[in-house]
Amino acid sequence: MKKRVALVTGAAAGIGRQIGLRLSRDGIAIGVLDRELDGAARVADEIVAAGGDAVAVAADISQRHQVDAAVAEVRRALGPVTIVVNNAGISAQVPFQDLTDEQWDTMMAVNLKGTFIVTQVVLPDMIAAGGGRIVNISSSSAQSGAATMAHYSASKGGVIALTKTLAQEFGRYSITANNIAPRFVMNTVMSEKQFTEDATRDAIIKAGPIRRQGEPEDIAGACAWLVSDEAGYVTGQTIGVNGGRYI
Ligand SMILES: NC(=O)c1ccc[n+]([C@@H]2O[C@H](COP(=O)([O-])OP(=O)(O)OC[C@H]3O[C@@H](n4cnc5c(N)ncnc54)[C@H](O)[C@@H]3O)[C@@H](O)[C@H]2O)c1
Repeated sequence: MKKRVALVTGAAAGIGRQIGLRLSRDGIAIGVLDRELDGAARVADEIVAAGGDAVAVAADISQRHQVDAAVAEVRRALGPVTIVVNNAGISAQVPFQDLTDEQWDTMMAVNLKGTFIVTQVVLPDMIAAGGGRIVNISSSSAQSGAATMAHYSASKGGVIALTKTLAQEFGRYSITANNIAPRFVMNTVMSEKQFTEDATRDAIIKAGPIRRQGEPEDIAGACAWLVSDEAGYVTGQTIGVNGGRYI
């Protein structure tokens, strides 16, 4: 069997960690990329301890030279990258009228430009291999809008548009590009910071058709399907994994 290699960004914690663990269970070798090397190394160790294959690499995805070096390291350790999961991201809540240029630029640099850089760096491997999978983690806030998150939701809207364009441009190489739009996924660093009150969590759970919170495993499951052979005719799509909170 041909070895498949996935680069998962932001894989030291939360959703990215779970995606790494899940894809590894499906027999895929994992490049665990994060700006936090210690966290990435812990996840790589977890994967290896469970019988998988992984390497931890450090990079800030908004910095091309760091991404170039990290991807080269993954190639050396595991082989060509034919799956990329652009999961690394940041979020913040700032009322629109208080939003500074700097806050706007930082959000775009990580969430949107970082996705562009990482995808551009790994694409040659997919083209050479005659196929690949791009999965971008966007957000339901790009679909519905989100008060006090203009910079975040705009960056994720850009990720959705970028995904559609990648689907159009690289489909002829049998490369699919899809995005998963999560909402209220708990047990991550990001959500623990944002939803600190039990009352807020309860209100979120009661407000949705599926009466439970989202878990990183929910996103990882959708991702595992999108990178599988079964999903080869699915491209350019936004898969809402949100408990029906945006329909
Ligand atoms: N948790 C949610 O409810 C939710 C909802 C919608 C979308 N999302 C999206 O899902 C993705 C993962 O979110 P999460 O909740 O697991 O967040 P998290 O904060 O728990 O994990 C994000 C990881 O990305 C890494 N990271 C951040 N900036 C980076 C950079 N510049 N370069 C490299 N690594 C970087 C962090 O170190 C961290 O390990 C994000 O893109 C987020 O926007 C999350």
